[in-house]
Amino acid sequence: MMKIAVLGFGVVGSGTVELFYRNKDSIIKKAGKDLDIKYILDIRDFPDSPYADKIVKDIDVILNDDEVKLVAECMGGVKFAYGFVKSCLQKGKSVATSNKELVAQKGAELLSIAKENNCNFFFEASVGGAIPIIRPMHQCLAANEISAVAGILNGTTNFILTKMIEEKMPFDEALSLAQKLGYAESDPTADVEGLDACRKICILSSLAFGKHIYPDSVHTEGISAITVRDIADAKKWGGEVKLIGSTKKLDNGKIMTLVAPHFVCRGNLISSVSDVFNAIMVSGDAIDKAMFYGRGAGKFPTASAVVADIIDMAKASGTSISQVWEEAEDNSFLENIENNKVEMYVRIKTDKESIEKVFSGVDFISEENGELSFVTPCLSEKEIDEKLSQIGAEVVSRIRVLDI
Ligand code: HSE
Repeated sequence: MMKIAVLGFGVVGSGTVELFYRNKDSIIKKAGKDLDIKYILDIRDFPDSPYADKIVKDIDVILNDDEVKLVAECMGGVKFAYGFVKSCLQKGKSVATSNKELVAQKGAELLSIAKENNCNFFFEASVGGAIPIIRPMHQCLAANEISAVAGILNGTTNFILTKMIEEKMPFDEALSLAQKLGYAESDPTADVEGLDACRKICILSSLAFGKHIYPDSVHTEGISAITVRDIADAKKWGGEVKLIGSTKKLDNGKIMTLVAPHFVCRGNLISSVSDVFNAIMVSGDAIDKAMFYGRGAGKFPTASAVVADIIDMAKASGTSISQVWEEAEDNSFLENIENNKVEMYVRIKTDKESIEKVFSGVDFISEENGELSFVTPCLSEKEIDEKLSQIGAEVVSRIRVLDI
């Protein structure tokens, strides 16, 4: 019998426990080993829970119990989770986590500790909730050289943008609705300012290109400045505004990673991904493109990925099959955002003549309230900014055009 400990009995932790017991017989068959949950770590009491007898408050109970071979970390945050996960791995206990902040900040180190201790550190639930993406990239697509990964990685902002697109709802109203429905937290910063998507693209990028990318080295913009006018202009241009996390290997060998709202043309499947759904497109030399789509958040969609990791950890017990990526020496493998080549949607308070003097061959989209909007030719961001300063007028909005 292999015993499991679940760290954190919040939304994902309780989903993991409930899903495990709901499907226990088939989970045990798939794992090929007898499994049971022995402990649930939480500082709170849950006297009415059917699992109240499993609650413990001291991590040492778990660390010192040799029967516990598998751990599911569903606490979130780095402060406590990092120490707990590190100690579990050092004791040879495999860990599955749903904690994207932990993987984005400490992934390289924890993966290496897992290798050293002949156990595993899995994190399928950290990106895309229910969507299989980590294991497909690590295993099913392993024969490929990955050239790019891009997609909608945050459900809350996609819900907000969908309301703005479909109902012309202003950002503040759509955010309040997302909070009312329980998608956005009372402090929505991590979602709306792109930090959550940034952590996820860091994980995918590290996995795709083998070097750890830290969130603070990634250019990150959120959606709080997007207006209904931007959305209407995107529609006239032939697409939608979506918050995209992307990472790609450039011809010079450097990696360009960013999170920002983008115009996505209607021909791209990502443009039609709405509501709280996520979608991730992976480009590889053998597959061309593969797209992964599904529910990116929520109790059972996320628990589905955690429990699948538990099954795989049980099957792999005694071996270390986790992926490993390197700690980068410095950031010289990352391309600077100013060298990013893009077409850019610009809304600016000036006239057509002033724009045409600086940009040749622009497509104008709309003219309203003294603001003209257009899409620039494909240039580096530095060149675009220089040209906009030459015009010398107030730039009201600038949104990149997605090029995959
Ligand atoms: N806040 C995240 C989202 C939850 O909205 O996608 C899942 O990581």
